[in-house]
Amino acid sequence: MRSVPDPRRDGAFLDILAAGKSFGDARVLDGVDLSIARGEFVSLLGPSGCGKTTLLRIVAGLLAADGGRVRLDGDDITARPPHKRDVGVVFQNYALFPHLTVAENVGFGLAARRTPKETTARKVRELLDLVGLAHMADRSVRGLSGGQQQRVAVARALAPEPKLLLLDEPFSALDRKLRETMQIELRRILRDVGTTAIFVTHDQDEALVMSDRIAVMNRGRIEHLDVPQAIYHRPATPFTLDFVGLSTRLDGTVEAMDADHALVATAFGTLRARASYRPGSKVTIGIRPERIALGTKHPNRLRARLADAIFQGSRAQLHFQSKGSDRMMVETLDVPAAIAPGHELDISFAVEDTLIYPSEPAEAVA
Ligand SMILES: Nc1ncnc2c1ncn2[C@@H]1O[C@H](COP(=O)(O)OP(=O)(O)O)[C@@H](O)[C@H]1O
Ligand SMILES: [Mg+2]
Repeated sequence: MRSVPDPRRDGAFLDILAAGKSFGDARVLDGVDLSIARGEFVSLLGPSGCGKTTLLRIVAGLLAADGGRVRLDGDDITARPPHKRDVGVVFQNYALFPHLTVAENVGFGLAARRTPKETTARKVRELLDLVGLAHMADRSVRGLSGGQQQRVAVARALAPEPKLLLLDEPFSALDRKLRETMQIELRRILRDVGTTAIFVTHDQDEALVMSDRIAVMNRGRIEHLDVPQAIYHRPATPFTLDFVGLSTRLDGTVEAMDADHALVATAFGTLRARASYRPGSKVTIGIRPERIALGTKHPNRLRARLADAIFQGSRAQLHFQSKGSDRMMVETLDVPAAIAPGHELDISFAVEDTLIYPSEPAEAVA
């Protein structure tokens, strides 16, 4: 496997330092730090309104931050206008030039820089090959499908060989099948070219599939920045746990400590988690549904009443109900034929898969 670029090892190629932005009273970006290695593909993942586009626009130079700095390849570009940053941008609405051909769209940035004609023609041919549109060079962009238009937009942004490519939800207008194809294709293209990229999305699957690292954003902050596997298996905060993938969340109270394990009372019984808390602490327990097994093979064992079994084709979801109102979700490959809602079953999961977080203070009512 290719080794993933890492700014801690390879040095930062892009450095965003304490980027902040307010609109009126609303603090939209709250001092964001982000370092990216050369050649790395980093996604900004978060719900609508969390500040992803604002951060991207600050890096592109389309919006001035209230504070903080942006450094790219050793240069402080904080005060530079967009066209002097060596940064390419692809937006959701492709914004192609409708009166130009495919090739003219791709070559537009080069022509504007007075690149010699032959150089432009060669570069455009290379890029159209790369995005699989060589046979459409002389077509008008008007008749192209959404996927083809987005390929043209990517080729056009790559033509001036930017140091950094920024993509803001570029596939959100495409249907699911095409989106999945484009995700794989864009990754291949950027690896071929070696371009460093920041990719904005609110789609967790897209971020998991494409990224070297994911920055999970919430309310103008990065909550968790890590490789996709760590984001999924070891989410740093309950927000990340909820936003990426399915999970069960249980309220709990720490009863006691046993060496480096906390014993946590929940509606389903007492669970062990690796953590250090004072007895009496309120905590949140998180468990991924596919980490829970039927039977008693793991140390965290519960007996719970099956409320519902949902067949999903390649797998099934089982919902268990506690004596109170808490529910627990289990994902299995097949449901044993003998079980039915109402039955009490043993389920179990490993201590390592029992995620634990301090309870968050109740949200202030606005
Ligand atoms: N020009 C603006 N004026 C006022 N508010 C803005 C402006 N641009 C963005 N916002 C607000 O900032 C917040 C973050 O927006 P944005 O960065 O576009 O979020 P995202 O891309 O994550 O959906 C939102 O609440 C949005 O309404
Ligand atoms: Mg946005």
